[in-house]
Amino acid sequence: MPQHVAIIMDGNGRWAQQKGKHRTFGHKAGVDAVRDSVTFARKHGIKALTLFAFSSENWKRPEDEVSILMGLFDLVLSREVSKLNKNNIKLKVIGDVDAFSDKLKEKIKKAEVLTQNNNALTLNIAANYGGRWDVVNAAKKICNEVTSGNMSIEEIDEASFSDYTSTPDIPELDLLIRTGGDHRVSNFLLWQCAYAEFYFCETLWPDFNETVFAEAVIDYAQRQRRFGLTGDQITADSLGEHNA
Ligand code: IPE
Ligand code: IPE
Ligand code: MG
Repeated sequence: MPQHVAIIMDGNGRWAQQKGKHRTFGHKAGVDAVRDSVTFARKHGIKALTLFAFSSENWKRPEDEVSILMGLFDLVLSREVSKLNKNNIKLKVIGDVDAFSDKLKEKIKKAEVLTQNNNALTLNIAANYGGRWDVVNAAKKICNEVTSGNMSIEEIDEASFSDYTSTPDIPELDLLIRTGGDHRVSNFLLWQCAYAEFYFCETLWPDFNETVFAEAVIDYAQRQRRFGLTGDQITADSLGEHNA
């Protein structure tokens, strides 16, 4: 089982258009798939689930679509947070939240505070998120630490850098899923992707469910992750573990 799974939830617009409906109909339908993926992660002991809900580039979409997406985000927060809390799920919104309305920022803060001590699953919602922003933001925070004397340049390494990204304190990213048929990262978790396994599927996001999630996890479980070693080294290592 992967410890940390991230999903680029793509294909809402095409799903709606295939049905002769407006793109925003697909965004609304996508909420059920979000619920299913959280249920699956919680049920199967995945420790962290990071969902790409809105990229820093998505502001460039038509104004009415952006405003429907913001409204939907607000609505989902209102409706789902108490259920997440009951299920011992910690909610975090990652991304540059400064761009959101004060009302939405307030709601995000409340949800994060309410669920901060939960520990069954960390659910990261990436909103106004960009992978490059994440790296630059971490660099800025580290510069502040250094200039204020809390950190020396020698203390900057991969582990300490990670602590300043938007995903500290959770397992390394194991599996990145993208629905909707495109094979690209679209500025999602660039730093965190270093050794992630990628899984691309044709399923459009509103059709994603526990069965499709299970297919991705089964595919992942059959891969040999080598982290730079040879296949033989990995096999010997796992045999060693079995004999021990
Ligand atoms: C993903 O679906 C949701 C967001 C980016 C907010 P899209 O809206 O990108 O759907 P397609 O890719 O146009 O079908
Ligand atoms: C990536 O999807 C962002 C989200 C799923 C939120 P996009 O639809 O924005 O990505 P591109 O534009 O096809 O690369
Ligand atoms: Mg898309």
